[in-house]
Amino acid sequence: MTGQKPQKSGGFALNQGPTMIVCVGVLLAIFLAGSLSVWGSYLNMLPNVMKPTAWLAFALFIMAFTASSLQILFPGSYGRWAMKNRRYIGLSFALVHFIHAGLVLSNLIFTEATRTAPVLTGGGLAYVFLGLMAITSNNASVRKLGAKNWKRLHKVGSYYIWVIFMATTVPEIPLSWPMGAIIPLIGLAAVGLRIAAHHKLKK
Ligand code: HEM
Repeated sequence: MTGQKPQKSGGFALNQGPTMIVCVGVLLAIFLAGSLSVWGSYLNMLPNVMKPTAWLAFALFIMAFTASSLQILFPGSYGRWAMKNRRYIGLSFALVHFIHAGLVLSNLIFTEATRTAPVLTGGGLAYVFLGLMAITSNNASVRKLGAKNWKRLHKVGSYYIWVIFMATTVPEIPLSWPMGAIIPLIGLAAVGLRIAAHHKLKK
């Protein structure tokens, strides 16, 4: 949901973004329907789908979070594509992550699962940012908020979401090594890319 200039060119590229959101939604629906039939009931399915939805959300988050840094550091066709479509990558991330929230909430409501107040508050605030970033991911909101405020919201929001990804996964590393280290390592590498890109621009 990081900034994006209106696309001037017509044709395929213009429609790629919305198509991406639809594709992600359809894949997610297929995954959840498949899981429901494998696990037999919604409650049996729940513990098995929360992690995969978080991982898919993380992959999309990292694509949006690193789009401009990758294009600055390694200009090329991937960076150009990611820059052009990062609004839609970000909206796809929001879609998947709100599904994660729905699953997590129903797990809390319908099962014995509990979470502490700080976890619920910290995670909940991430969704406040995510919601704000999603509803302002359009040109009218950029104009209304002003480019500076809009950028500030999306920067603070994305770093806060990054922190929650790290806070969720880093304490689990010893329990789920080596897979459990993947999200923290990619998360750290992503911030490294952003710092390197910032330095390159300042030179
Ligand atoms: C109050 C809100 C939230 C609650 C209660 C919650 C709860 C959960 C639960 C129960 C799981 C499954 C754990 C398992 O199967 O072992 C999970 C996975 C995960 N959640 Fe959430 N979540 C919340 C919000 C968030 C947010 C905002 C983020 C990121 C910004 C996030 C990132 C993750 C990640 C990365 C995983 C996978 C962890 C792993 O693979 O070890 N969650 N969450």
